[in-house]
Parts: sequence; C-alpha cells; structure tokens
Amino acid sequence: MSILSGKKIVLGISGGIAAYKTTFLTRLLVKAGASVKVVLTPAARDFVTPLTLSTLSKNPVISSFTNEDDENDLWNNHVELGLWADLMIIAPATANTLSKMVTGNIDNLLLAVYSSAKCPVFFAPAMDLDMYKHPSTGYNFEKLACYGNYMIPAGEGELASGLSGVGRMAEPEEIISFIENQLHIEQPLHGKKCLITAGPTHESIDPVRFIGNHSTGKMGMALAHDLASRGAAVTLIMGPSNIIQEHVNITRIDVVSAQEMYDAVHKYISHQDVAIFSAAVADYRPANPAQQKIKKSSETLHIELIRNPDILGSVGMMQHKPFLVGFALETEKELENAFAKAKKKNTDLLILNSMNDAGAGFGTDTNKITIIDKAGKTLKFPVKSKQMVAKDIIDEIIKRTF
Ligand code: CTP
Repeated sequence: MSILSGKKIVLGISGGIAAYKTTFLTRLLVKAGASVKVVLTPAARDFVTPLTLSTLSKNPVISSFTNEDDENDLWNNHVELGLWADLMIIAPATANTLSKMVTGNIDNLLLAVYSSAKCPVFFAPAMDLDMYKHPSTGYNFEKLACYGNYMIPAGEGELASGLSGVGRMAEPEEIISFIENQLHIEQPLHGKKCLITAGPTHESIDPVRFIGNHSTGKMGMALAHDLASRGAAVTLIMGPSNIIQEHVNITRIDVVSAQEMYDAVHKYISHQDVAIFSAAVADYRPANPAQQKIKKSSETLHIELIRNPDILGSVGMMQHKPFLVGFALETEKELENAFAKAKKKNTDLLILNSMNDAGAGFGTDTNKITIIDKAGKTLKFPVKSKQMVAKDIIDEIIKRTF
C-alpha cells in the first residue's frame, strides 16, 4: 500500500504548459488512495480545465476566493483548505508563483492556501531553461528550502519553447515517488501498528462512586501522538480522561475499568508490532459493587477488594508478543523494584518514574524517566516535557526494533 493512501492532498496548479501533466498526476494520486482537492491559479485555467480535474479528483476544483456557482457557499475558505491538507503539492510551480510564495504576495487562492497550510509542501518547478538558471530563481529555491518546502527538481530535455535543457517539470510518476520517499524518511513507522494503554481506571463501588487515581493520560497521549506523527497506526486504549485526541492515525478505544482495559487490549493485541502500557491501572476492585447508592448507615464501612488482572503481565506471557514497553511508578527502592518488575512482566523496555523526583508523575506537564532495557542497561534522562519524554522513548524503541 502506498504511504499516500488515506492522505488528504491539495494539488495547486499554476499556469504553465506542464499543467497538462497534472491530469495524470491527479489520477495517480487518487489511484494511490489519496483524497485530492485541486486549486488552480486563474492562469492555469488556460492550460487545463476544471471539469477534467474535478472528474479525475472526484472533488470540486476551485480557483477563486468566491464561488459563483453556489449561492449558498459563496466563500472558498483558503484557511480551512490549508488546514485540511496532510500535504500540498504545487505542480507546475512557475517562476511567477515561486517568487510570490517566497515574498508572500498572496494575489490568488492557490497562494492563500499555500500560506495557510501547516502541512509539508512539495513544489515541482517548470520553466524555460534560462528562467531556471536565473539567479532570482535559484534564490527562490533556496528561500523555499529555508521555509521547509521540498523541491522536486525539474528534469532535462526538450522544452515547450523548442530549446533543450533543464526546466521540464518532473513526470507525474517521479513526483509521486519523490514524495513517497520523503514521507518514508519522515515517517519511519509507516505500516507499523502500536497499541498504548493510558490514563487511570475507575473501579465501581456503587453507581456513583469509584476507586481511581490521579493519572490524567497526558504521558500516554504524548506517546500516541509521537508514534502517530511518525506514521504508525496507533490503537489507544484510554481510561477515563478529558484529554482530546486529534490525530488521524490514532484510533481511540475508551474504557472505564481495569477489566474493560484488559478485554480491549486482548481484542486488539494480535498483529501489533509494539505495545506500550502507560496506564495507571487499579490493582484492586470492589468484589461486589453495590447496585444502588450506598447509604451512610454505620460509622465505618468495609469494602472487600479483589485483584484485577495484570494486563501488561498477561501480554508479557504471550508466545508471540509485540515489543513490550511497561512503566513503573515507584516511591522507594526505585531501581531495585523496577528491575524486578521488568523481569516479572517480561518487558523489552521498562520506563521508571520516581515519585521522589520533582517534575515527574501524575498531572504534571513534565516527566523524568530512567529506561531499563532487557539486558539490564539503564539510561537516565533529565526532566523534560512529556512530549520530549515521549520522543526519547519512541527513539529508543525504534533503535531496538525497526
Ligand atoms: N499494569 C497493568 N495492569 C495492572 C497493573 C499494572 O497493565 N493491573 C501495568 C502498568 O500499565 C505499568 C506496569 O504494569 O506499565 C507497572 O505498573 P505499576 O503500577 O508500577 O506496578 P504494578 O504491577 O501495579 O505493581 P505494584 O503496584 O505492586 O508496584
């Protein structure tokens, strides 16, 4: 499956003769499984028709800020389109469009979408050989590279002017493979499946009360986001938490109790490449949760608790287990307890948090971890934001697995 499958792509076409090749490009993108929305500059309409491109892309094609065809939807929202896109391709990128991209001269819808896009932008220049060689063009290429845009170099050959040299827009197949290669570099976990448990669990005492803990799920969500942004398909099994998840690569399964978390993990665990258990699971639950609200009738109340299943431990015992990462939250004899936990639960990596460290633990935006690997080697990290801690953990997983 192409890495472009499922990607939302804005294809911006500016006015050059190479625009005719974008009909093939659109077809190849759609064939690769991408959703494509085409934006034309006014000049591009002279080279390729909206009808052809909307038929191929299966989406309306737009080229101006206003939509004269639909009186209920008069405004073509460039910001919305820029945010919708997972990536933007500008092909052909004429010398004129390139210079406006550099200077921020937003005089058409394509340039407005470009300047509001938050996604990677690829551009495929196309122009005559002397224009291509002109110092201003070279300057614009350099500037756009500084903006983080990716240039798909033009090829050499016969040009529309009849001259021969560098300036031909890359062929549609070359554009696709350039982008696929670049995405593979940026998304080393594309095609990998990762499961994460996160957040607390709530164990019912009666219909209105529960036993829980202070976990917020921030660390687990940071891990899920880091994995997803590197291309992994993430299944996030989340206990009760207010945190909102916003990544298309994350499938979130909400659970409440440890037993529900256990069931969800075992439903999804097969075929996972990596499983990370960051949830703060309640070790015990009330043996007989009351069906009605418990009334205060006596001075003391005894609730009998029974053991919850050890979810991480149960996966550690599987014959074909994924690369397994556990967490350990300790308040005393941290390293000694963590080594014992890693062995008992058969983890490939154990992430130790100490409640004694300032900046570590529940509810904070930071964490301080020590990673213990299978060979018993330890790696200590300073206090960092949970996002940076997630990055460190995923870097270590990638080093050891893929
Ligand atoms: N864990 C789990 N299921 C449980 C308890 C814990 O999957 N019922 C996982 C946690 O998600 C974490 C690891 O096991 O990755 C260790 O959790 P921790 O609470 O530190 O240890 P416990 O196994 O609960 O042992 P103890 O409370 O005795 O330290």
